[in-house]
Amino acid sequence: MSEKLTESASLITEVSLNNVVNKIEIEDFEINLLLQAVLFRYGYDFHHYARASITRRINNCMRKTALNNISEMIAKILHEVDFFELFLKEMSVTVTEMFRDPKVFNTLRQQVFTQLKTYSRVNIWHAGCATGEEVYSVAIMLKEEGLLSRCRIYATDFNNHSLDIAEKAIYPAEKMAGFTHNYLLSGGKASFADYYQAKHRHAKMHSSLKEHITFANHNLMKDQSFAKMHLIICRNVLIYFDQVLQNKVLKVFQQSLLHRGYLLLGDKESLDFSGQSKNFLCIAKKEKIYQKINYD
Ligand SMILES: C[S@@+](CC[C@H](N)C(=O)[O-])C[C@H]1O[C@@H](n2cnc3c(N)ncnc32)[C@H](O)[C@@H]1O
Repeated sequence: MSEKLTESASLITEVSLNNVVNKIEIEDFEINLLLQAVLFRYGYDFHHYARASITRRINNCMRKTALNNISEMIAKILHEVDFFELFLKEMSVTVTEMFRDPKVFNTLRQQVFTQLKTYSRVNIWHAGCATGEEVYSVAIMLKEEGLLSRCRIYATDFNNHSLDIAEKAIYPAEKMAGFTHNYLLSGGKASFADYYQAKHRHAKMHSSLKEHITFANHNLMKDQSFAKMHLIICRNVLIYFDQVLQNKVLKVFQQSLLHRGYLLLGDKESLDFSGQSKNFLCIAKKEKIYQKINYD
């Protein structure tokens, strides 16, 4: 009797294990089909995003849009352009803040901006700018260094929803205390309140900062460079890409930079193992600031 029980228990375990494995396999299969559909219909290749993160985001999107499974999402992706916009929004991790990692901004000011002062015109590309907080931080620093008037900042992202927020330059007032703290730690020379106007529960950044910024949609998966740059800032974007896409994007950056141009990456990103380290000099290891040293 007990032998029979053990036998049926192990049979049940095997069957339920098979079900679990099947469920995961089905989801994996559906995700591959979904990514194919996105590529086929819109030319966005998410195959080179970190798989665990993309799976989590797709499942979140499914829950938020009250779909029953990924196959239903495939049909919507193929037939509803509006749904794709929403999908793109859900695929982006847009966490950002002003003067994030203040030490990095301090080093940028001390080591890079002093060099940029030797140019009469300066082009800066801010790739993956999300909702714009980092771009306004850089614009404030450039203003304090007397550089903003000769700068053109191209701030790009593939998420139109984030770009809209960035263009409006309006942020929740309750975030200003934290931003002020970061600003001071980053070597801010004035009062942070000089750069925004508080109204009700919001703060609007001064339009004098925005005059020098061009916001535009740009997809690092497939779009090329659009001008020669003195500085490229791309922080906390490459971490979501696999090595293949990271290499491709870093090559675009290398080709877009002028000789002696600067590249700033995020805390967990680097040029190591990218094939680009030979083309750059690391000028601030902890802050991930590099300078291009070849002539291509
Ligand atoms: C975590 S945010 C980083 C924001 C800011 N750079 C920072 O560090 O505070 C990542 C941004 O990268 C953008 N992004 C992801 N994949 C992209 C792609 N293929 N092309 C352009 N932007 C992309 C996302 O939309 C998101 O706004």
